[in-house]
Amino acid sequence: MTSVQTLTLRHPDDWHLHLRDGDALPAVVPHTAQRFARAIVMPNLKPPVTTTEQALAYRSRILAAVPHGAAFTPLMTLYLTDDTTADEIHRARDSGIVHGVKLYPAGATTHSDAGVTHVRHTYAALEAMQQAGLPLLVHGEATDADVDVFDREAVFIERTLAPLMKDFPGLKIVLEHITTADAAAFVREGGELLGATVTPQHILMNRNALFQGGIRPHHYCLPVLKRERHRQAIMDVLAEGHARFFLGTDSAPHPRGAKESACGCAGIYSAHAALELYAEAFEAAGALRHLEAFASLNGPRFYGLPVNEGTLTLVRDAWEVPAAYPLGKDSVVPLRAGTHIAWRLK
Ligand code: DOR
Ligand code: ZN
Repeated sequence: MTSVQTLTLRHPDDWHLHLRDGDALPAVVPHTAQRFARAIVMPNLKPPVTTTEQALAYRSRILAAVPHGAAFTPLMTLYLTDDTTADEIHRARDSGIVHGVKLYPAGATTHSDAGVTHVRHTYAALEAMQQAGLPLLVHGEATDADVDVFDREAVFIERTLAPLMKDFPGLKIVLEHITTADAAAFVREGGELLGATVTPQHILMNRNALFQGGIRPHHYCLPVLKRERHRQAIMDVLAEGHARFFLGTDSAPHPRGAKESACGCAGIYSAHAALELYAEAFEAAGALRHLEAFASLNGPRFYGLPVNEGTLTLVRDAWEVPAAYPLGKDSVVPLRAGTHIAWRLK
């Protein structure tokens, strides 16, 4: 059987990305800008991006880090808190640069301490978002201490997301970085206003990758990797070409020392090879024909934005991922460090 040697797609976007700030920006923005025309930029800075004014300033800092000659548009988000007002939501919508509002349950993940303590505190903001057509982007994990870490996504869907959707039937919602068969089925069976992003790690690896020959901090992210049957269930929906599932890397750089630690941070850096990694996963599932819709068409349709002009080409030409990339004065260990990736950007 002959295999495909080149893949040309309409220029893709990343619908879930962490860029950080300061001297991390010039280190990570170029990786994303080489591959993606736009990216939904997460607001979990320290302090978080809670106002349109802060989002505008952050956007300028990101744009200053885009390499000359590259065209990259950051799509900004606000960090939802118990105190987010309807007025702030209207300012966000009117700005034209804010494309979503992120719900982090307090304590769920990196820089989520300012997050929402109970969704009932956000109902005024959600009402305004529903009216304005501004999507709610959800980190879908229950944070109750009695919930097993591997069950957090399923419990969140049952206890929080499903009731919230009943209260706001007209609210657009993206369940971010899904990791379970439960989430895949919930979104698949949901209506037109419910979408999901999928990371490369959650379709390339299962939870064994956390313990391969020893503990692997660079494979630790949240939501944490799950059992093989969950990886398979997510890949199955993507291999069907379902239109409400789209690319969101959740690329989340941390300095090496913050990961290789007695209490290591959650987050996997994948921006250096994001599209190439998805191509591997789709190819392994025999689903390469659905990669373009996942990477380039489904996201814009869901967000109500035009698809990009132009194309991007990957060639089958294996390359070795460096052991680390610079990250300001520090370094970041990328996904697949020191191993080969089958596809290369042309
Ligand atoms: O693994 C993760 N890292 N999950 C998140 O939700 C946040 C992210 C980060 O900001 O590092
Ligand atoms: Zn994230």
